[in-house]
Amino acid sequence: MSAPHFARIPNPAPVPEARRAEIVANPGFGRYFTDHMVTIRWKQGEGWHDPAVVPYGPLTLDPASMVLHYGQEIFEGLKAYQQPDGSVASFRPEANAARFRSSAVRLGMAPLPDDLFLASLSELIDVDRAWMPPAGGEESMYLRPFMIATEVGLGVRPASEYLYALIASPAGAYFPGGVRPVDVWLCTDYTRAAIGGTGAAKCGGNYAASLLPQAQAAEHGCAQVAYLDAAERKWVEEMGGMNLFYVFGSGDGPVEVVTPELSGSILPGITRDSLLVLAKELGCQVTERKISAQEWLEGAADGRISEVFACGTAAVITPVGRVKHNDGEVTVADGEPGPVTTRLRNLLTAIQRGGAPDTHSWMRTL
Ligand code: PLP
Ligand code: COI
Repeated sequence: MSAPHFARIPNPAPVPEARRAEIVANPGFGRYFTDHMVTIRWKQGEGWHDPAVVPYGPLTLDPASMVLHYGQEIFEGLKAYQQPDGSVASFRPEANAARFRSSAVRLGMAPLPDDLFLASLSELIDVDRAWMPPAGGEESMYLRPFMIATEVGLGVRPASEYLYALIASPAGAYFPGGVRPVDVWLCTDYTRAAIGGTGAAKCGGNYAASLLPQAQAAEHGCAQVAYLDAAERKWVEEMGGMNLFYVFGSGDGPVEVVTPELSGSILPGITRDSLLVLAKELGCQVTERKISAQEWLEGAADGRISEVFACGTAAVITPVGRVKHNDGEVTVADGEPGPVTTRLRNLLTAIQRGGAPDTHSWMRTL
């Protein structure tokens, strides 16, 4: 489909302006949604059809829709930022479009063409622009594209019908503590993904499997789970919804920024990829390699590791204060946000909010 045309059905009962203002001023994360959503359908033999912007509201699904039984579902997460000149731009949405396609392929679903993915973002921002949090703050508009198998039937095979939808949610900090350091639970009872599995795809099933370990982490007072590889239970992979970075060295000496190499079972984060570029520009040596849980715990304890942080669209860059595990806990440095974490966070958020030059053409006006 070239130059997609979206039908528009305005919401006859939008959220009243005063209530909207209240929500946008204090949105939290993922709790409130704008007045509209985008839907596009796919059917075997017909392809993608009927792109539309419709009132936000419940989806009607047959109880035998395949997604409800076999979990054929994928999603994305990206943000749109109000720019100082009044325009709205998002950060590397082409990369989300490409990851959405590769997730679709892994889940045996119809890949959505990038032009439809990108056009859906522009359409929704256009109708719900009044919901955009203002420039200059921590808030942004979180965009959640997703796709489900809507064919009716209980046979286990790729569906012949899909629904793509896009919803939008004004968003503040993902963690209730804002950008304060979080504690992380190093999980040895469960793994997130194995080689050959779906770890590199952004599918709901990965997150369903993470909920029990996440509850376990919460029992230990931790905000997130750090997973180890499934084969050796030795190498750090990532967290339930973020990638991990380690800073070796500090002060006047050389600084090396290390992140686990893409193992095939790690989600290739767009923030991760961007920070590898920015850290190099800030003069750090950057390395993608295996890092063991033992190296993390020992390095944090003996000071070789000076900073640890998590990164992702929702979490942006969040410092890790402590790592807890079955046999104890280690505080990273003094438990406060370190200088490399802070510089990277400031640079990334300045680029996203139009406060620093976009030298890599990462921002796309919606
Ligand atoms: N890892 C997982 C499991 C995630 O859910 C996310 C969030 O999308 C990330 C990493 C970070 O990816 P990105 O930086 O593209 O948001
Ligand atoms: C994101 O950062 O967009 C995520 O998907 C992480 C989590 C909210 C699922």
